[in-house]
Parts: sequence; C-alpha cells; structure tokens
Amino acid sequence: MESLPIRVFGDPVLKRIAEEVQDIDGTLADLCGRMLEAMYEAPGIGLAAPQVGVSKRFFVYDYGDGPKVLINPEIVESDGEWEYDEGCLSVPGMSWNIVRPKMIHIIGYGLDGEEISIEADELESRLYQHEMDHLDGKLLLDYLDEEQRKEAKKILRQMIMRQGNTGPEGPRKIQFP
Ligand code: NI
Repeated sequence: MESLPIRVFGDPVLKRIAEEVQDIDGTLADLCGRMLEAMYEAPGIGLAAPQVGVSKRFFVYDYGDGPKVLINPEIVESDGEWEYDEGCLSVPGMSWNIVRPKMIHIIGYGLDGEEISIEADELESRLYQHEMDHLDGKLLLDYLDEEQRKEAKKILRQMIMRQGNTGPEGPRKIQFP
C-alpha cells in the first residue's frame, strides 16, 4: 500500500480545529499504523492526524522508545520557558527558534482506551506541544513575527510550485532535503 501523503503548508486542513475522537476502534488503529509508517518514512518523530488530512484529535509519535498514539490529548499543566529550533513535516525544510513552556503534563487515551498521563520536559514536552498545535489548526508560522512569516511564505510557495505540489488530489508529499 502506498504510504499516506503528508499535507503541507497551504492545505486548508492544517488550519482547521480538529474534532474529538468519538470511537477508538479498528479503523482508528489502522489509520494510526499508516500514519506511523508515513512518519518513519519522512522521517519525523511525530505526526498529527490533520497532517494526513484527517481533522481529528490524535497524533502518533516515537520519542525513541517505540511507536505510540495519543488520542484526545489535553495539556493540563505547563511550566517554565524553553527555546528550541523547531521544524515541522508540513513546513518542509525550515525551522525556527521558538519559545514554549519547558515542562508540561499531558493526558489523553491510548488505542486500548486506557487513560495516559505523561509529564514531559524539554524535547519530549516540545514534541507534544507541537502536535497539540496541529490539532488546533496552528503551524510554526503562527509563532513568527510578520517579517519572518512573509519571508517563510515566499520560500514555501516557491518550493511548492517547483515541486508541482498542486495536483487535483491536493498537495503531495515533499521530501526533506
Ligand atoms: Ni508539525
């Protein structure tokens, strides 16, 4: 089976606020499996459902200890400040230093329907915050000042045009350089 294409900047699904998952079932598990394949192939350490065109509140990730899924996640606590050079598979080839809370406490559900509670710091915390943004229709570009954003959009538009990324089926996947 062909792997799921990752939607890139300009695709409206990335700006949408995703809906709560109602049923944790086999269909969702299959989709998570295919998302993990696309994530590893990219390669990336996290991928949110809107990035494959599904406007639902869940994401897959692998923070070095195997593939995981977090469904209907919610950040219940955050603390501190941490700056990190952050990139995104939907904004290919670009990254920016972005300040976010250093530590978070995030809760959600796994594919078995069990509640998950994670306290995370630094990079792991950043990963969850980044994926949460995707569920709220936010991209890295929303953190930039006007000047930076203009410049980034220009580069992205050129990149997307060069790669002929506007077929009838919507944006195709862009390979990382
Ligand atoms: Ni991203």
